Amino acid sequence: MTPDNKISRIQELVYEIRIGEVMQSDVITISPQTHMSELRKILREKRISGAPVMDGDEMVGIISIEDFIKWLADREHDCPISEKMSKDVQTLYADEPLTQAVNKFERFGFGRFAVIDRQSRRLLGIITKGDIVEGLLKKLEIDHYKEEEEIYCRRVEHFFEDILADKVVLLFQYDVAGHDFKRAGEGASRLKASLKRLGLDPQIVRRVAIATYEAEMNLVIYTDGGQIRARVEPHEIFVKVADSGPGIPDIQKVLQPGYSTAPEWVRNLGFGAGMGLNNIFKCASKMELKSVVGKGTQLYIRIDTKDGAMSETN
Ligand SMILES: Nc1ncnc2c1ncn2[C@@H]1O[C@H](COP(=O)(O)OP(=O)(O)OP(=O)(O)O)[C@@H](O)[C@H]1O
Ligand SMILES: [Mg+2]
Repeated sequence: MTPDNKISRIQELVYEIRIGEVMQSDVITISPQTHMSELRKILREKRISGAPVMDGDEMVGIISIEDFIKWLADREHDCPISEKMSKDVQTLYADEPLTQAVNKFERFGFGRFAVIDRQSRRLLGIITKGDIVEGLLKKLEIDHYKEEEEIYCRRVEHFFEDILADKVVLLFQYDVAGHDFKRAGEGASRLKASLKRLGLDPQIVRRVAIATYEAEMNLVIYTDGGQIRARVEPHEIFVKVADSGPGIPDIQKVLQPGYSTAPEWVRNLGFGAGMGLNNIFKCASKMELKSVVGKGTQLYIRIDTKDGAMSETN
């Protein structure tokens, strides 16, 4: 946004926002019999710089810190505020646009205006210049946020249009360090965040994340490290998790639920139930495990983005 169109947005907003939206509705009122000598304490305690003066239900004036200062400066005797308040009560309607308030502030030079209901003429609140600025800033912030979100959504939509139109294949790659439990799972959670941002079905994102996490943990526990690569295509996501050792001697065996070679200390960390590969199998539309002892292991996972639910097919 350029500074120029920010100004015009403010101009627009003073017509859009109603006085009632930004006024202070929690109004503290003062009775006309209150003495000037008490005023300072009241204003200070309530942290206000002025207040409508109410005689029962009727607003008879407005008293402000300026009136108090003038009274002090004139070294006059104490008197009821009704004698010093401004009786020329200019009011604004809550349903008027902010521009009305801006004009009135300009014209009368007052610090605050009482805001009343157009029909009942009941006092609803007061408005100061500060309330106007605050209200505008709030709205601009919301606008700014909305704008960013819109741009983001548009971007995501285009991304997917492109992918669905077979134009784009997205590739993600993460390195996994072996035996580094502090960073374990980082690759999977980063991939999960990226897929989420793309606006993919949460069920699909979850399946990819679980499968990748299990494979990543196996790399951390049983190998010196490796790589996760994910390829997002129009209708499927491929994840390849590869390492360069030590390899698996018996693939069929490790695929059996409950089979694990995890050492005691790894089990103590809560791993080693022998369920990881099984979980991957459940999340995947297709899974393939290839390994050469002494060379390394590659796990290929395919998850179809069309079927959200878990699949048992291999
Ligand atoms: N990348 C790998 N390299 C070498 N061996 C592996 C690899 N991945 C798995 N294995 C072997 O396969 C076994 C089974 O793995 P799986 O992930 O199913 O269970 P786990 O890791 O033992 O326990 P869990 O995953 O439930 O914590 C492991 O105990 C390990 O012997
Ligand atoms: Mg495992």
